[in-house]
Amino acid sequence: MTLYGNVLFTPRLRLRRVTYKDIPTLAAWSNCAIAHGKYLSPHPINEEAGYLQLESGLFWGEKSKTFVIEIKKGKSIGSIHYWLRSERKECAVVALKISVPGERNKGYGTEAQKYLIINLFERLKIDEIEMYTDINNIAQQRCLTKLGFELVDSLTYDDQKVTRLGSLFRIRRSQYQQSSIYQYYYE
Ligand SMILES: CC(C)(COP(=O)(O)OP(=O)(O)OC[C@H]1O[C@@H](n2cnc3c(N)ncnc32)[C@H](O)[C@@H]1OP(=O)(O)O)[C@@H](O)C(=O)NCCC(=O)NCCS
Repeated sequence: MTLYGNVLFTPRLRLRRVTYKDIPTLAAWSNCAIAHGKYLSPHPINEEAGYLQLESGLFWGEKSKTFVIEIKKGKSIGSIHYWLRSERKECAVVALKISVPGERNKGYGTEAQKYLIINLFERLKIDEIEMYTDINNIAQQRCLTKLGFELVDSLTYDDQKVTRLGSLFRIRRSQYQQSSIYQYYYE
């Protein structure tokens, strides 16, 4: 499992760099409450803004990258994004959406996170990865538990003017090295 150029291959998915062809889909998802689920607020952009973001390098920089999650038939089902904290460069934060509701609960969310986490720990010299989630987002918390994260804090945060009660989860490099889920690449 390696980042070959702009693509990260997992057993069932391709995580790949955003291209021009993705912008209409990403813009449509950004305006759609269903694509965000109950625990994320839409962050609407129009296509023009999407193209500008692509051209300005917002989706693919040294300190942050956004991947389209694609099932192997070439169908885009969501996106996953990481960024290095500006105040703590050894810490990456990850966020994801399986935007097509019919593709949730098939293990794709866990799989996309697992292989991005492996890639981040193996490719970048980071010490820890953090993720935020709404306290009621049981599906994401189930993923994080399987992926060896621990709950480190509870906090309120503003999500597009909606105040949410959230949880901060973290996995450190030592926990990553000890967690059995990362030993078996092809599950
Ligand atoms: C949260 C999300 C990323 C999870 O991805 P996914 O592909 O659906 O997750 P997976 O199929 O890998 O795993 C989901 C797990 O949660 C469980 N689950 C799902 N809904 C559940 C519920 N209401 N109660 C209890 N468990 C639930 C599933 O059974 C599965 O666990 P299992 O593998 O032990 O059976 C996806 O649902 C999503 O994108 N939702 C909308 C956006 C969002 O909330 N993003 C996360 C922001 S932090």
